[in-house]
Amino acid sequence: MALLWALTVLSLLPLLEAQSPACANLTVKPITNATLDWLSGKWFYIGSVFRDPEYKQEAQKIQAAFFYFTPNLTADTILLQEYQSVGDRCVYNSSYLKVRRENGTLSKFEGAREHIAYLLLLRDPRTYILAFSLDNEKNQGLSFYADKPEATPEQLEEFHEALVCKGMNKSEVIYTDWKKDVCEPLQKQHELERKKAEEEP
Ligand SMILES: *[C@@H]1O[C@H](CO)[C@@H](O)[C@H](O)[C@H]1NC(C)=O
Ligand SMILES: *[C@@H]1O[C@H](CO)[C@@H](O)[C@H](O)[C@H]1NC(C)=O
Ligand SMILES: *[C@@H]1O[C@H](CO)[C@@H](O)[C@H](O)[C@H]1NC(C)=O
Ligand SMILES: *[C@@H]1O[C@H](CO)[C@@H](O)[C@H](O)[C@H]1NC(C)=O
Ligand SMILES: *[C@@H]1O[C@H](CO)[C@@H](O)[C@H](O)[C@H]1NC(C)=O
Ligand SMILES: *[C@@H]1O[C@H](CO)[C@@H](O)[C@H](O)[C@H]1NC(C)=O
Repeated sequence: MALLWALTVLSLLPLLEAQSPACANLTVKPITNATLDWLSGKWFYIGSVFRDPEYKQEAQKIQAAFFYFTPNLTADTILLQEYQSVGDRCVYNSSYLKVRRENGTLSKFEGAREHIAYLLLLRDPRTYILAFSLDNEKNQGLSFYADKPEATPEQLEEFHEALVCKGMNKSEVIYTDWKKDVCEPLQKQHELERKKAEEEP
């Protein structure tokens, strides 16, 4: 009986994977130096689904957002410089994220509170997902990022596949609207200031 059961399970496995190859790949993996090097740079927040009411409320306020990741490979931190367009104003903020390599997580401290996100890599390396509360279906959240202000239909399709894998629905996605970005001037100003500071002796 045990052998029969084992055989049945074995023959089922490829079937299950064939059904959802995308889900099989959507797993949390340890973060390496290569991952951090790849994460380094400018990213755009495209959209998200948050079941947690507090996160959802935050997401609804964001018209557009982009940010820079500057990882520190020895300290396992990432400098986060974010530009969020909220209520037609640009809100700039800079903070440090903590990297837990083995757990595949990034986390942000707000006072005593730690917000933890799992990094989920996709087929397209110009995109990724941050997943929140994966262990708690009621508060789960997936947030999608790309290296351009607007994701391509193929990239969005991959995000939608990921939502389905996690039991969420694409009709729940709250998208940003790049036309509503009001932060570009501030970012340009920061860039100028940085260049000036570098030129000064
Ligand atoms: C899953 O990952 C493997 C290895 O990275 C890749 O070859 C394969 O195309 C992926 N499949 C899907 C459906 O993403
Ligand atoms: C990762 O990079 C840091 C800094 O360059 C280095 O000290 C460390 O040994 C690297 N880790 C691995 C596993 O290569
Ligand atoms: C990275 O972190 C190490 C250890 O905290 C620190 O000594 C170093 O200055 C940091 N590097 C940069 C570029 O900030
Ligand atoms: C990884 O996650 C577990 C469970 O959430 C936690 O107890 C552990 O401290 C984490 N590991 C690291 C290195 O932070
Ligand atoms: C910047 O972030 C800190 C910590 O997350 C937060 O307390 C502060 O209100 C933020 N500032 C702005 C202008 O959003
Ligand atoms: C997603 O939501 C829409 C509208 O609420 C619903 O019609 C559809 O059946 C849902 N799909 C799944 C897979 O839950």
